[in-house]
Amino acid sequence: MNIQEIISKKRDKQALTKEEIEYFVTNYTNGTIPDYQAAALTMAIYINGMNEEETTYLTLAMAHSGDILDLSELGTVVDKHSTGGIGDKVTLILAPIISSLGIPVAKMSGRGLGYTGGTIDKLESIPGYNTNISVEEFIKNVKECGISLIGQTLNLAPADKKLYALRDTISATESITLISSSIMSKKIAAGANKIILDVTCGSGAFMKDLTQATKLAETMKKIGQLANKETVCIITSMEEPLGEAVGNSLEVIEAIKALKGQMQEDVKEVILTLGAYMIKLAGKGNDIEENKQKMLEQIKNGNAFNKFKELVKTQKGDITYIDNIDLFNKAKYILPVISDKNGYVVSLDAKTVGEISMNLGAGRKKKEDNIDSSVGIVLKKKIGDKVENGEVLAYIHANDEKKGKDAVDMLQQSYRISETKIDHKQNILKII
Ligand code: URA
Repeated sequence: MNIQEIISKKRDKQALTKEEIEYFVTNYTNGTIPDYQAAALTMAIYINGMNEEETTYLTLAMAHSGDILDLSELGTVVDKHSTGGIGDKVTLILAPIISSLGIPVAKMSGRGLGYTGGTIDKLESIPGYNTNISVEEFIKNVKECGISLIGQTLNLAPADKKLYALRDTISATESITLISSSIMSKKIAAGANKIILDVTCGSGAFMKDLTQATKLAETMKKIGQLANKETVCIITSMEEPLGEAVGNSLEVIEAIKALKGQMQEDVKEVILTLGAYMIKLAGKGNDIEENKQKMLEQIKNGNAFNKFKELVKTQKGDITYIDNIDLFNKAKYILPVISDKNGYVVSLDAKTVGEISMNLGAGRKKKEDNIDSSVGIVLKKKIGDKVENGEVLAYIHANDEKKGKDAVDMLQQSYRISETKIDHKQNILKII
């Protein structure tokens, strides 16, 4: 068997065998297959796809490319993952709420991919927060604190770690096979027995319409079933960014405010729905509406915020930042984007906002790029909001004046304002 033959087979739209897929995954992970050949095969998979069998073999090979965590001593652990979005700070808010209800959260998160952000980059904007800990420490933290959020640093699904970074740099992100194998391999390796997936849909998501998002959700649910892990998928809208902040520390600040009770309505709808199903999966309540009330109570009584602080402290982050958000580094330039019309916001393209944020330095253009945690966007007006001429639509946070000014122009153009009133969008599109 050799990699050139495997690449040509997929280039010519043929199905790969289990052995060929395992050969690729093993030898790419151990460095025998170089990035350029892996990139060629990944692009062939992106263009020509894989059937259900191939996708399952790919997922299992990636899951078994490293260790498989055994979390059985923690009881029922529900894991959560998103297929990626703009302004998606859901994990930062949801995980402490769930953990404060006595449900263990042991979660391995990712970094930014393409124009979408990643929880690990966000958490690392808290000085000292260590996303890179050992398995023993991870399990100890979950046992003692009820929660641990870490990066892909343990030897879990190392094949995904390499492929994820590679896909980011070769524009091979928006693929059902590649996304489902990436997410489900990590979830299988991370040891949780139940999985909740936030499948985003719309301009700022990898799946642009409901048909594609449904297909992705069904593929992942099926893989979950095969791996004996009950999986629920919630399809959520990513037509416009979620919440008000886009950018790493800006999103952490929004999450802290949300945990203190100041939560944007769209964020609340997504968090409460995902959380209510997590509670149900954990066997802690079958009534979805009651579960949502339990979550709101944890915010009101301060338990969710305290849990977040405990998490940060346990992972060596500086909790003075959590108590005082003014300590976070601020960008040098904070530039307003001003409306030149009266009317209602009818669209705000999430992907463009993600790209603006990436250009400001909040995301990576190349695998080895460093990110700038203080830059990004704070949206003051969203779809359905009334705007007046001269009112502030958003603020750009930039450390480079020229990039900041370009961002102002781009964002101004991506706001569509019309005289006709439109309603705020539904955020929960489908539950599978
Ligand atoms: N999140 C992942 O973990 N992998 C993807 O491919 C997309 C989003």
